[in-house]
Amino acid sequence: MTTTTKDYSKYFQPPSYKDAKKRGKEDVQVLYDFAIPEELSRFGEGKRYMIRTYGCQMNEHDSETMKGMLEAMGYASTDDKYEADVILLNTCAIRENAEDKVFGELGHLKSLKTEKPNLVLGVCGCMSQEEGVVSRILTKHQHVDLIFGTHNIHRLPKLLQDAYYAKEMVVEVWSKEGDIIENMPKKREGMKAWVNIMYGCDKFCTYCIVPYTRGKERSRRPEDVIAEVRELARQGFKEVTLLGQNVNAYGKDFEDIDYRFGDLMDDIRKIDIPRIRFTTSHPRDFDDHLIEVLAKGGNLVEHIHLPVQSGSTEVLKKMSRKYTREQYLELVAKIKRAIPNVVLTTDIIVGFPGETEEQFEETLSLVKEVRYDSAYTFIYSPREGTPAAAMADDIPEDVKKDRLLRLNDALNEISREANERLRGQVVEVLVEGESKNNPDMLSGRTRANKLVHFQGPKELIGEFVHVTVTEPMTWYMKGELAGADAPAAANM
Ligand code: SAH
Ligand code: SF4
Ligand code: F3S
Repeated sequence: MTTTTKDYSKYFQPPSYKDAKKRGKEDVQVLYDFAIPEELSRFGEGKRYMIRTYGCQMNEHDSETMKGMLEAMGYASTDDKYEADVILLNTCAIRENAEDKVFGELGHLKSLKTEKPNLVLGVCGCMSQEEGVVSRILTKHQHVDLIFGTHNIHRLPKLLQDAYYAKEMVVEVWSKEGDIIENMPKKREGMKAWVNIMYGCDKFCTYCIVPYTRGKERSRRPEDVIAEVRELARQGFKEVTLLGQNVNAYGKDFEDIDYRFGDLMDDIRKIDIPRIRFTTSHPRDFDDHLIEVLAKGGNLVEHIHLPVQSGSTEVLKKMSRKYTREQYLELVAKIKRAIPNVVLTTDIIVGFPGETEEQFEETLSLVKEVRYDSAYTFIYSPREGTPAAAMADDIPEDVKKDRLLRLNDALNEISREANERLRGQVVEVLVEGESKNNPDMLSGRTRANKLVHFQGPKELIGEFVHVTVTEPMTWYMKGELAGADAPAAANM
């Protein structure tokens, strides 16, 4: 396969960080006319696909869309890479180790590609939107057949056809800010469904690659979101998670209507879906109306993921988070007043450039003050092209690791205590399946998304049950089925 001699400029506008920062007001188009081209509707007959997904829920959901398109083309799925005719890696760029995994996998797949030259190997997702990654693949991983970005997923059927017939690598990455494509098929499994409410991010936190890989903030029209959730209710889904990098910015980009995330939640809670979640919320756009709506409860669960990143105002400023420690704590207090049984979780980065021991201790003290039920914690990873990558990454690796350990110790103690308070209480659990480590047990999640293992008949999978917590642990709880009429505790 020759790749380096070809002129890719026709297909590929390299994503440009400089242009992304100049993000303008150009119109976002909402396109309703998506369809699999007639001539491709049987293209995948007799063939199998496999998609490997890295990264966040956004990527997981994009994979569901790609699966939907592939199955509409006649492809069947497989978990066995030796059986697959198409393998897609849906990649994540958030930290260096996420990228390392993908490059490692590309290395492994090289021999498979040599054995099966007709295999189509594609790379999509956030890494393909990065400046340096496409050229690295073009030069070092020439066994890749197809690269496409996050803005042109809807082009997959056509790109796949091109990849089958092209002698060279097919590359289509759009650096434009992205449109909204409605009506793409989606393959959802189980009882829980994701629904995008918005795409992109305009926050430009200085460490973060997402605003560049996902384009500008753009909200789906409320009527389209509501219609999708209604349809999921009709299909019998038990839980819907509304997705956006920053759901609280929902609607800010509408010019014709004044309709924000609080309004959307207020409309969606009237739909007959037992549980509605959302992720992720940025503290900055969390307004009073939203808190008022969430306090209505019902199918709006009392769990809020509210990433703080750091407990130090100085560090927050360097991260460009646009709130102070005090403002964050004030928001938490307001939320707790309105929703007394709320469960808060968060994301935290340690070892951001210049973070002093005192500043790190401010994060520790904030964690103890807020009392998160759980948290995702990360060591800062410089991302090329972001403003923080130009700051000296001056915290020694062993100090970063030590801070992560100390933070996790503090968080684990709090999680354990929070779960301990549930000992003997009855919680409502949506039964998701057999427990991963013990097929004799079932597992499910509470309204606050806590994992519960208990013994029960398989027929309960997909149902809501009441479980008495008998053994609270740090990351999960063990319990026993309670009678159907046992009242569930308020704080779950
Ligand atoms: N939009 C979400 C975050 C998505 S990324 C939000 O703002 O809440 C998920 C998490 O990854 C972030 O909250 C942050 O804690 C972490 N993260 C992002 N960039 C990172 C980097 N360069 N190094 C380490 N962690 C990072
Ligand atoms: Fe990244 Fe910040 Fe946007 Fe979250 S809000 S995706 S951390 S830039
Ligand atoms: Fe990763 Fe892209 Fe999500 S960088 S975290 S997959 S938005």
